[in-house]
Amino acid sequence: MNSISQSFAHTMPEHVGAAFDMAVSEAWRFVGQTAPNPAVGCALLDARGKVLVVAAHHKAGAWHAERLAVEQAQALGVVEQIHTAVVTLEPCNHTGRTPPCTEALLSTPVQTVWIGCADPNPHVSGGGAAYLQARGLDVRWLAHASNGGACMARCRALLAPFAWRMAHGRPWITVKQAVNAQGSMRPPAGSTTFTNRQSLEFAHALRRATDGIVTGTGTIRADLPAFTVRHVPDHASRRRVLVVCGASTTVPAHWLEQAEVHFDVLFCPDCSDLPGVLASTPALWVMVEAGPTLLRAISAQGMWDDWLHIGQDAHGCDHFSVSTRHDISPLSLFPQWARCTQEQTCFPVL
Ligand SMILES: NC(=O)c1ccc[n+]([C@@H]2O[C@H](COP(=O)([O-])OP(=O)(O)OC[C@H]3O[C@@H](n4cnc5c(N)ncnc54)[C@H](OP(=O)(O)O)[C@@H]3O)[C@@H](O)[C@H]2O)c1
Repeated sequence: MNSISQSFAHTMPEHVGAAFDMAVSEAWRFVGQTAPNPAVGCALLDARGKVLVVAAHHKAGAWHAERLAVEQAQALGVVEQIHTAVVTLEPCNHTGRTPPCTEALLSTPVQTVWIGCADPNPHVSGGGAAYLQARGLDVRWLAHASNGGACMARCRALLAPFAWRMAHGRPWITVKQAVNAQGSMRPPAGSTTFTNRQSLEFAHALRRATDGIVTGTGTIRADLPAFTVRHVPDHASRRRVLVVCGASTTVPAHWLEQAEVHFDVLFCPDCSDLPGVLASTPALWVMVEAGPTLLRAISAQGMWDDWLHIGQDAHGCDHFSVSTRHDISPLSLFPQWARCTQEQTCFPVL
């Protein structure tokens, strides 16, 4: 029996819920930069529930969220005030590129640790929590808090791409499909888009949050797209994966040369091989930006996790809808989610 099943149901104090929200928001800022590591946030609180510091994992090789939070508390001279740690993911208990987060927490006077999600790696899941518990800490799981559902959903949404990759060996796949009022995906001649400014910013925020793009050779020939993040600020020096479905011989050489400046470009002549091609990359989350031909193939193979549909009405107003195959989605952490209609079935590909 592991530490999760041993703990009892409890209520989450309000200040802990607020700290979880802060930890998720901080971690969200680095989504799209942490691969192959998950995005994780941590808040450290004093005995009265005041938040002392909030930190997140920035990128592979950098401090994990807990260690960075402890470092920041040290810099602020508040380590001795630490009473409660709130972590979106179970603290690691092993030495990788950085030392274990359990030891970082144990180097402080922390007494209670609230955990959002268990480590999705079945070989180590529960180990970090058990280690802390064995050293006298009060370890509490959001899953066992009677009022922890909303916080738990946010922590799970944050972890979803990593957890999915861990369980299924391929990244989380979000399809983005824009359709105009006439039902066409093709922009008018001379243009490469027809959506409005907010939709464009949403699309670029999605590029920022994801680790790669999947497209088809038809889109490349039609638009010569740059696929870079331009309408919102990008992570610094971010190099992503660009998987092109189709034959490499059919894309212009000058486009490929330019794309390789920013992307690791891989060709996938048969999109049933897409999971394997994506598995060969470090990506946790990819976005499909392709025309109707490839979207039909992806839809037929059921090779997607979320399907974001951006539709335009006759007045030029955009409407966002999402189909998702899961009970949570990383898309729910975008502010635009509040504007999305959530559907249970996939939209037809036009
Ligand atoms: N509104 C939107 O959201 C949106 C997004 C992107 C693009 N677009 C528009 O879509 C139009 C292009 O559409 P499209 O249908 O011609 O292009 P596409 O779907 O992007 O690419 C079609 C190509 O994908 C490859 N492909 C198709 N099925 C495949 C499979 N099962 N396995 C591997 N490769 C496969 C084939 O490449 P080969 O022929 O090389 O084998 C095919 O020619 C453009 O007008 C573009 O602006 C719209």
